[in-house]
Amino acid sequence: MKTALITGGSAGIGKQTALALAAQGYHVIIAARDAVKGQAVLAQIRAASPSAQVSFWQVDLSVPEQVRALAAHVRSQWDHIDALVLNAGLFTPTLRTNATGHEFMFATTHLGHFLLTHHLLDLVKAAPAARVVVTSSVAHFFAGGLGLSDVRQPSTSGFLLLAPFRAYGRSKLANLLFVRELARKLEGTRVLVNAFHPGGVKSEIWRSTPGLFNAVIGPFLVSERQGANTQIYLATHAAVTQTGQHWFKRRVERGTPTSRDPATAKALWDYSLQALGIPAFGQSDLAGAAAQQHSA
Ligand SMILES: NC(=O)c1ccc[n+]([C@@H]2O[C@H](COP(=O)([O-])OP(=O)(O)OC[C@H]3O[C@@H](n4cnc5c(N)ncnc54)[C@H](OP(=O)(O)O)[C@@H]3O)[C@@H](O)[C@H]2O)c1
Repeated sequence: MKTALITGGSAGIGKQTALALAAQGYHVIIAARDAVKGQAVLAQIRAASPSAQVSFWQVDLSVPEQVRALAAHVRSQWDHIDALVLNAGLFTPTLRTNATGHEFMFATTHLGHFLLTHHLLDLVKAAPAARVVVTSSVAHFFAGGLGLSDVRQPSTSGFLLLAPFRAYGRSKLANLLFVRELARKLEGTRVLVNAFHPGGVKSEIWRSTPGLFNAVIGPFLVSERQGANTQIYLATHAAVTQTGQHWFKRRVERGTPTSRDPATAKALWDYSLQALGIPAFGQSDLAGAAAQQHSA
């Protein structure tokens, strides 16, 4: 049976993808913070597809120990992952940091997914034709460069209201750079790695953005289902043969020059390894622990 792990599959774009992949017969594992929302989505999926195989795991991706616990759980239950959908994301209206001192959006959307991928890469490689799909955004245009110094001590200089938008853009730029570098490292394997922009989507993410901003963009937002279209395509469709690309509406987009810069991608990769204490990417130290738990 095909397996899909969808972070942020409890709401918005990820929820639509969870519904679609469960209907296609994947065993879908949804990972997000809010267990009540997660259970409600499981019930909705089972109502839509009574034979669906779905489960929920509570995780805050900004907390490395919780990411490791999710990975250990997945490793103890499954030996392959066909679709790793790294979709969870958020906008914080004020800048704050996680316990390791990283700006919260960067810690969640980039570092959390980087660590999760590190611990699950061998399961992804074990699938016959695996996909890694990362939800990036056109907002990476607002990042104004990666600014690795800013991911620990976010700069609030300049127009204060814009600082969270810039930090959000930086987290989405990091998503794209991660995809470029991971795809490069996986060249010659059966794994395709792609990022995409879903469009402006009418989801819960806008609950944290200023009201005036919402009033301006509101009329241009598309449905969550439309937003998930390219995500589902990249995760499942046989027509996808490219890797390391950024997509919008099922077409490859160029993105900013920084998002295509190999040196910036490598700098982010090296920073992430060091920040998370990973000696060798893709060689999880969880395998033994998971195996022991299993046999206990
Ligand atoms: N909506 C748009 O217009 C738009 C445009 C471009 C890109 N995107 C990207 O699309 C992705 C999905 O967003 P959406 O619009 O579908 O938003 P959404 O409806 O708010 O869903 C976000 C999902 O991410 C999860 N999540 C957030 N923070 C998390 C954390 N720290 N740990 C674990 N899970 C977390 C949420 O679960 P909990 O509620 O349990 O935290 C939820 O399931 C994000 O990466 C976003 O940046 C959205």
